[in-house]
Amino acid sequence: MPGLLPAGEPVPTDGSLPASARARVGERGFGVYVHVPFCASRCGYCDFNTYTADELGGGASREGYADTVLAELALAARVLGDTPPRQVETVFVGGGTPTLLPADELARILDAIDSTWGLAGDVEVTTEANPESVSPASLKQLRAAGYTRISLGMQSAAPGVLAVLDRRHRAGRATDAAREARDAGFDHVNLDLIYGTPGERAEDFAASLDQVVAAGVDHVSAYALIVEDGTRLAARMRRGELPYPDDDVAADRYLAAEAALDAAGFSWYEVSNWARTPAARCRHNLLYWTGGDWWGLGPGAHSHVGGVRWWNVKHPTAYARRLTAGESPALAREVLTADETRMEDVMLRLRLATGLPLDVLDDAGRTAADRAVADGLLAAPAHAAGRAVLTLRGRLLADAVVRDLLP
Ligand SMILES: C[S@@+](CC[C@H](N)C(=O)[O-])C[C@H]1O[C@@H](n2cnc3c(N)ncnc32)[C@H](O)[C@@H]1O
Ligand code: SF4
Repeated sequence: MPGLLPAGEPVPTDGSLPASARARVGERGFGVYVHVPFCASRCGYCDFNTYTADELGGGASREGYADTVLAELALAARVLGDTPPRQVETVFVGGGTPTLLPADELARILDAIDSTWGLAGDVEVTTEANPESVSPASLKQLRAAGYTRISLGMQSAAPGVLAVLDRRHRAGRATDAAREARDAGFDHVNLDLIYGTPGERAEDFAASLDQVVAAGVDHVSAYALIVEDGTRLAARMRRGELPYPDDDVAADRYLAAEAALDAAGFSWYEVSNWARTPAARCRHNLLYWTGGDWWGLGPGAHSHVGGVRWWNVKHPTAYARRLTAGESPALAREVLTADETRMEDVMLRLRLATGLPLDVLDDAGRTAADRAVADGLLAAPAHAAGRAVLTLRGRLLADAVVRDLLP
């Protein structure tokens, strides 16, 4: 969830879309994102739009939350009424900690999405979960309700690293939860890792990778620690209590992840994501990265339909207040120009293992691509076949390669 949003233009209080967007609904695959903005405690590094009970005070509560989301879903159904999207191909419930809501509330939200737009027969339904917020019983309930994929925040196997990150779960709980999810019938289980935390040794990260592989999951996401302004972690670094992450260490950890995961039969399909099989790739994220349409329900959620992007008010209390008044919770929107769409497409697709066709680049971009091949950042065989695909070295420098290819 980006901290700084563009100003955008106002959205009508009924949430209606411009005619240009309505005309394009149904052209692309359609997904639904549901944001659950609650956490039991805030991890020191995290600046996501999420709130502990203390932070919420007397405002919006977890108890009424599913009903508030269903009110936005009813509004979405009205907005897209005459121009229905395709059946829902993917649902992703993220947070925050969605599994702080009871499993029957998560089931109720999924049922309502199904009755509103219909779920495709092979729909992918993911929920994020904190390892300490699921049990064998709740996982079985979610599986029975139609959830097909669980994404667990593990971050590290090392107790010292988990302590620096302010994680609540003990080392080992995340991989236990992954096994419980598989026992509950989930074929698709992801573990998230963070690397480059101050104090993390190479052997700590190697142990995290070993444990992820041993847990039998079919998907791994690994992110370099980002120090976000305004977090407790950033304050500790500013005060000199912890060193800032080191880029060379992060690059070494990335290479270690690639080596261990490749040896265990995983393949990268996006710079930070590896899957054991094509079926294990997260189709919801692929929909984001390949220009699909989605409706984002919940405070701070972003949506993208028919070339229009909008985002909701951030605070759960403001979000609930708007919906109670019968108004759209959208704060502002942007109608994307063809140039903006092309730039985003290049930025997102270049991070995918499938890369992008060279002919979407302008002349300067194609010259930069030639240079990137000579520098070992783009793969020569793919380039010869008309595509820009990052090499392993290119994946380490993906942001810089994107900057070179774009005007
Ligand atoms: C919403 S959380 C996942 C679910 C759950 N809330 C949890 O933390 O277990 C999404 C993921 O984003 C990643 N993340 C969040 N803040 C990050 C940061 N500052 N740097 C790197 N990764 C971060 C973590 O790997 C985290 O698991
Ligand atoms: S549990 Fe997840 S969403 Fe909540 S504060 Fe920690 S990383 Fe952020």
